[in-house]
Amino acid sequence: MKKATASVHAGNVRERNQGGINTPILTSSAFEYLDDTEVRYPRYFNTFNQQVVARKLCVLEGAEDGLVTSSGMAAISSLMLALLHPGEHAVLLEGMYGGTHALIVNEFRRLGIHYSLSGGALDEISAAIRPETRLVFVESPTNPLLGLVDLAGVAELAAAHGIVTAVDGTFATPILQNPIGLGIDLVVHSGTKYLGGHSDLCCGAVVGGAGLIDRIRKYAVMHGGSLNALDCYLLERSMKTLELRVRRQSANAGRIARALDEAAAVRRVYWPGLPSHPGHELAARQMEDFGAMLSFELAAEFDPVAYQRGLRLVHPAVSLGGLETTICQPVATSHEKMAPEERARLGIGPQLLRLSVGIEDADEVVEDLLAGLA
Ligand SMILES: Cc1ncc(COP(=O)(O)O)c(C=O)c1O
Repeated sequence: MKKATASVHAGNVRERNQGGINTPILTSSAFEYLDDTEVRYPRYFNTFNQQVVARKLCVLEGAEDGLVTSSGMAAISSLMLALLHPGEHAVLLEGMYGGTHALIVNEFRRLGIHYSLSGGALDEISAAIRPETRLVFVESPTNPLLGLVDLAGVAELAAAHGIVTAVDGTFATPILQNPIGLGIDLVVHSGTKYLGGHSDLCCGAVVGGAGLIDRIRKYAVMHGGSLNALDCYLLERSMKTLELRVRRQSANAGRIARALDEAAAVRRVYWPGLPSHPGHELAARQMEDFGAMLSFELAAEFDPVAYQRGLRLVHPAVSLGGLETTICQPVATSHEKMAPEERARLGIGPQLLRLSVGIEDADEVVEDLLAGLA
């Protein structure tokens, strides 16, 4: 199935009693067991609505198996902690989502897991690999600077050392990027963002080969973090419009990025679709479009908080991937927990604003953003 078709149809199960065309919602948390070969229980990730929505995502990502979790961080922490043991080592990106960074910095040391935070270039990732490295975990595009990582290159590099690879594909969505097809082992998503898509769900997912997912499932079953049936249904319903939303949002982002790029009050725009972006060619190669996230730096004379307060259409809000265009200042939101000197080294300063572009009329969003700069 093509992605537009898979978004609508993949995984769905029709309701048999009355012939309803939507997947029914089965809410039981207690299941008969005498005649079932498998013990069924929501925390085991094996109830009906959990499996239906996981299947839809697996079809879109080209994955064998997957788990839908109660947040993106539940998927990321389950993946990392299932695959890494004390004394082992992981290579991660220095410029990635602040919550993932906080997990590593706070938890890995306590658990005796070693890590290196690398730049996104292949030679930097390669130099960080040690004999005890078991996982290379990257994000592409990265939050908030939209850095690109060569996923096929990472897969090849890690395979030569027998190391598992994982990608946080939240910004790209399965519509625009399929890391498994590029040789990556596992993909995680914060489903709170584009998969949910309406700013009203908190969920996540990890998909990949059956063997690795089985290891992650065993860990996640012990630690909790599954998603309830009603939220699984909402996620399934939202994903039916995923292709439609993401294509429209990406097209809008292009229009907005170009307009901001021409504005004198904007020092720099970070969007992989701009030819000036350092990852432009790589993005064109490994993504189907450039995505709907972009960041920009206001000139020094603008107060970023006052600018956000003055917007009429664009909402200042944390999170991303919804239908509405939202704006945030990463130093106060996604990267608030990162040490200021670390943020400064990565180029995440107070003038940087991140936009999550929605499905509105792009010209009206541009008008709002530029009015505040006039
Ligand atoms: C790229 C990325 N990965 C993971 C997460 C974590 O997802 P959640 O908030 O659903 O736990 C986020 C949240 O902002 C994110 O932006």
